[in-house]
Amino acid sequence: METRRRTVLAAAAAGLTAAAAGTGAAHASGSRTPARERFGRMPDGTEVHRWTLTGGGVRMKVLSYGGIVQSLEVPDRHGESANVSLGFADLDGYLGESPYLGALIGRYGNRIAKGRFTLDGTEHQLSVNDGPNSLHGGERGFDKRVWDVEPFTRGTDQGLVLSYVSADGEMGYPGTLRTRVTYTLSAAGEWRIDYAATTDRATPVNLTSHVYFNLAGEGSGSVYDHRLSLAASRYTPVDGTLIPTGELAPVSGTPFDFRRAKAIGSDIRSDHPQMLHGQGFDHNWALDKGGSARPAPVAELYEPRSGRAMSVATTEPGLQFYSGNFLDGTLVGSSGRTYRQGDGLCLETQHFPDSPNQPAFPSTILRPGETYRSTTVYGFGTR
Ligand code: BGC
Repeated sequence: METRRRTVLAAAAAGLTAAAAGTGAAHASGSRTPARERFGRMPDGTEVHRWTLTGGGVRMKVLSYGGIVQSLEVPDRHGESANVSLGFADLDGYLGESPYLGALIGRYGNRIAKGRFTLDGTEHQLSVNDGPNSLHGGERGFDKRVWDVEPFTRGTDQGLVLSYVSADGEMGYPGTLRTRVTYTLSAAGEWRIDYAATTDRATPVNLTSHVYFNLAGEGSGSVYDHRLSLAASRYTPVDGTLIPTGELAPVSGTPFDFRRAKAIGSDIRSDHPQMLHGQGFDHNWALDKGGSARPAPVAELYEPRSGRAMSVATTEPGLQFYSGNFLDGTLVGSSGRTYRQGDGLCLETQHFPDSPNQPAFPSTILRPGETYRSTTVYGFGTR
């Protein structure tokens, strides 16, 4: 899990200095407040803003709509920056058919079978939006809401506090859920996400981030030559509608074994039955160090040509690795190129899918008086 990140951050920071020179407030690093600009209007007239955070050579653009990471510029080993996250150039792209590009996901990351669960003796029916199931919070999840955004600077860190109040009954979920998500970009090139939520009725909560990474640059082709490692000895197999069977299966001897780094493409065409369900990797890995009080290192991604590396640390017990299987060439990304199958991948830290219907999985139920907390850190560097 060693990235040798530190050695390259100095170079990355130098890259930023050059890039920042003469580009004004939006690109300044350090103590300045994140810059805000207008990005578009919602159909009801609500204005959507785009915020720019910089730190450690990384420049990240975040929308108040969906908390979406619209762009994430990271230097390569020569200090050349590229946008390593899939996205759209304008708001219309996101208001159309977006497969959650860059978005915050809530109230429940991944699927709940038939959009149904029973809690404290009451059955709840959620919005169903993925075949028979509810996916990523239903028809209009947190990815499709305009969030309140408060910028901050703390020493050399820059950040945003995103808040959204989800009404009791929204998308079928019980309870008023008050969610605060803090994005912090540090001078070390680390993007930290702290999730917090409270409720006034018991309800399932499972928040995550749905950035599609391509460390060679968005629109540059597939991620199959990226090398991935995942510190997970088990994963949760799924049925034909991508709902976990309830089993925790060993990865050993299967395409799901990423305990030693391997190219994503090496087993992507495997005929393992589990690979046929999601047309590639679209599974939850049960993290060996999952569920820790502090973020534990769980994954690392490396792109050999650019030398860009990304580490993932989390407090969550699971991680959904989705290899962009359903990208089908119909979307045109932010630099004008189409996104085809495998052109980006997601590493979504989470509780396991369908936990409200799986008593043996770690619980996702939040009760009044408790605070939901979860932290994930994506660290960027080069080798
Ligand atoms: C899911 C995929 C789904 C995708 C939506 C991922 O988190 O695991 O099955 O297609 O999100 O774009």
